[in-house]
Amino acid sequence: MKAVTVITHPLVRHNLTRLRDKRTGPQEFRRVLSEVAALMLYEATRSFAVSPLPVQTPLARAPGFRLRREVVLVPVLRAGLGMLDSILQLIPHARVGFIGLKREETTLRATSYHKSLPPDLSRFEVVLIDPMLATGGSAVAAMDLLSELDARRVRLVNLVAAPEGIRHLHSRYPGLPIFTAAVDRKLNRKGYILPGLGDAGDRMFGTK
Ligand code: PRP
Ligand code: URA
Repeated sequence: MKAVTVITHPLVRHNLTRLRDKRTGPQEFRRVLSEVAALMLYEATRSFAVSPLPVQTPLARAPGFRLRREVVLVPVLRAGLGMLDSILQLIPHARVGFIGLKREETTLRATSYHKSLPPDLSRFEVVLIDPMLATGGSAVAAMDLLSELDARRVRLVNLVAAPEGIRHLHSRYPGLPIFTAAVDRKLNRKGYILPGLGDAGDRMFGTK
């Protein structure tokens, strides 16, 4: 699939399996989700632009680099929060915006209940963070909010995607880079990813 990178590093696969396992409780789920996010970020940020920044070592001049653009991390509440802290540890200078979305259980439509973002995103690298891409409604809604703020360089860091969600998101935002650990089989009739891992937010916080 175009613009979809499936990260198949053995540690990512190992951790994804722990997250899929229904015996994994909230405490371990949060810890493993956080670990896998850090592993995935390395691949997801590989194409960040850098500018030359030569430095003087104690011995000689050396070529060096700095990130060309500032970074904004945007977790989608609630489940995206589970991937934020470990990513923030790797990019501690990043700004953090939040988008709150809730998928209505019967219509599967995503409703926005919170937004807190820098006012102009045009100069940033934006990392949108949501472990689940199911119908794609939430990701499209998040992208609509980011686009209103002129975001030009967005990538989605996701854990499990359904083919339906990828198609929906790319029909509205063609070429949006998606980094995921798995593209699963399909959605069930209730809009859950099969085999998936269940409801990520509920598993993180023990709410069901
Ligand atoms: C989950 C998940 C995504 C969304 C994906 O959130 O974290 O945001 O569903 O589904 P979609 O692609 O069909 O829109 P949910 O709305 O359940 O909220 P929560 O994270 O607060 O539990
Ligand atoms: N949201 C989840 O958390 N899991 C799914 O399978 C679908 C949407």
